[in-house]
Amino acid sequence: MKFFVDTANINEIENLVPTGFVDGVTTNPSLIAKQGGDIKQTIKSICSIVEGPVSAEVTATEHNKMFEEGKFLSSIAKNVAVKVPLTVDGLKTCKKLRNEGIMVNVTLCFSAAQALLAAKAGATFISPFVGRLDDIGQKGMNLIEEIVVIYENYGFETQVLVASIRNQEHIIESALIGADVATIPPKVLNELYKHQLTDKGLKAFLEDWHKTGQSILPK
Ligand code: G3P
Repeated sequence: MKFFVDTANINEIENLVPTGFVDGVTTNPSLIAKQGGDIKQTIKSICSIVEGPVSAEVTATEHNKMFEEGKFLSSIAKNVAVKVPLTVDGLKTCKKLRNEGIMVNVTLCFSAAQALLAAKAGATFISPFVGRLDDIGQKGMNLIEEIVVIYENYGFETQVLVASIRNQEHIIESALIGADVATIPPKVLNELYKHQLTDKGLKAFLEDWHKTGQSILPK
């Protein structure tokens, strides 16, 4: 399973890259606005520190303008994946960008029917928003299960990129289902390391070790 980091905050990304767990980055207009600064500079900076796909979203809603924006965003760096919303114009733009060999991440997916359309449009990634489905009382992970089965049935190459992740359970369930990518907020990614028994066990190991008076390296 690939881990993408869901943020436009350069410092957060710089702090996470050395962990070796950053396979890509996803941004969206809200995350860009939260970061502040010019989108081109922000995306260029992120692409300079992350080798994997970096999603940058168009903000036009009409196909021709979306395509123009997508071509511009793609020109920023070779690892840009253009994000388009799951709309009629978004999928038209997806097809056209894919025909030019440009990576496309179709976002704001909330149903299996939408995901099927995105795969037929040749999307590189589909981004189902599990947290927002949970927010309205549905089980977002059920959608991931449906999409993985449908894509496997027909050999679609579109990668399932689980988005709107709010907790560890979303990540583990995504991995159990076999999703390709999880795009994870930095806070949730940092929480993955933590378990009370790990801390407790390490403390006990070191206390016992110090009693020996030994050191592994020659003094
Ligand atoms: O990548 C999509 C993600 O940023 C949306 O997350 O928590 O606003 O639903 P959230």
